[in-house]
Amino acid sequence: MSTTHHPIAHGGAPAHRPFHIVLTSAIAALAGLLFGLDIGVISGALPFIARHFQVGDQMQEWIVSSMMVGAAIGALGSGWMARAIGRKLSLMIGAALFACASAVCAFAIDPAMLIGGRVLLGLAVGIASFTAPLYLSEIAPRKMRGALISLHQLMVTVGILAAFLSNTAFSGKGDWRWMLGVIAFPAIAMLIGLVFLPRSPRWLMSVGRRDEAQAVLNRLRGDEKAIQTEMREIDDQLKVEFEGWGLFRSNRNFRRSVLLGVLLQIAQQLTGINVVMYYAPRIFGLAGYGSAHDQLWGTVIVGIVNVAATFIAIGLVDRWGRKPILYTGFTVMAAALASLGMLMHIGITTPAHQYAAVAALMIFIAGFAMSAGPMIWILCAEIQPIKGRDFGIAVSTFVNWVANTIAGATFLTLLNTLGHAQTFWLYAVLNAAFLLMTFWIVPETKDVSLEQIERNLMAGKPLRQLGQ
Ligand code: BGC
Repeated sequence: MSTTHHPIAHGGAPAHRPFHIVLTSAIAALAGLLFGLDIGVISGALPFIARHFQVGDQMQEWIVSSMMVGAAIGALGSGWMARAIGRKLSLMIGAALFACASAVCAFAIDPAMLIGGRVLLGLAVGIASFTAPLYLSEIAPRKMRGALISLHQLMVTVGILAAFLSNTAFSGKGDWRWMLGVIAFPAIAMLIGLVFLPRSPRWLMSVGRRDEAQAVLNRLRGDEKAIQTEMREIDDQLKVEFEGWGLFRSNRNFRRSVLLGVLLQIAQQLTGINVVMYYAPRIFGLAGYGSAHDQLWGTVIVGIVNVAATFIAIGLVDRWGRKPILYTGFTVMAAALASLGMLMHIGITTPAHQYAAVAALMIFIAGFAMSAGPMIWILCAEIQPIKGRDFGIAVSTFVNWVANTIAGATFLTLLNTLGHAQTFWLYAVLNAAFLLMTFWIVPETKDVSLEQIERNLMAGKPLRQLGQ
């Protein structure tokens, strides 16, 4: 991602120290990693859990989606928590909760305990997925913020891959308890790392601890003049802070940008991406791969394609722009899912059919990772006016998890009621619809300053013209 024009830059860049860059990147990375581990861990464990507890499809859907319910609640509640006790402490609670919840899942004696553990795990990820970007945007040098969103998404995909690999490693003995338990270790690493991090200067100033804020800025920036400028800017920002809900009620234009964020996140989730992330072994089963061994290696390939194609997005985002990338992605995804449905319709009977089905699945994953994966998160951060930014992002993140829950909680039921081919066709149609949605309401924000986007929004310009 280019550093000359950056999606979420406001104002000039203060000096910063390399130590600081490493530090913020590491936190972005770890928070992304937890997000990804959380998404990836269930697919490989699910078939073994189903066998162990003798549970059917509906209970499996509950086990999968309880985590997302927790995440939605966590994302919603963490706005309040981050304000009340600060970002650093919120993140530490998130990491500690993640570690404990993983242990609860690993030691579950019945499906109810497992579901409880997954809700807690979700709460932890909900907290991290809202608070980490917020904390980062407050301590990162301005020039780095957009790159950090991309890094965060990249680490989500790395986390998913790591979970798929660990699932595969533990699958020999069918050891779902280790699959679910082992992800506690990166959370503990994050918790320890967080102890050494500074508090957010902006939060410190918001609770009147100016001297501490200045000390943190000294440590991070090391340039006296830049620090004074930044503190003045924070003062200005604090005057307009907390306007989220009030602004939402009073300002129609802000409601439009919040709605756009919500629609973007619904589109991201209803591409069907997490149906693959959660139920990949089952899908490989439908494609004719019967053994657990084949299915789990299949998930590893899914994970690798997901990481690799994310680099395409990172390389293209500031050259092609957001809309061409989304057009390409939704087209590729719609075509791949339509083909997969077609193969299931005619019956996957020969090895050639099997390869074709796997290829279609991989093309779908690549289509998502090179487009909607990172792009939606970037757009959601770009379109909100500064006054309502935290609120707008909290709402769209919440909706991301709600839509994620709906996709996860309905997939097996759809397979059983609509049929296999029809389920994939349904998702193909949704992707085609999102192509049209991109055309009609998504703005092109490449090379446009956030101030310009905000001016256009507040002047009442149509959403698709916010970047003009
Ligand atoms: C989505 C997740 C998804 C992941 C896949 C993210 O952008 O928000 O729901 O599992 O991408 O890589």
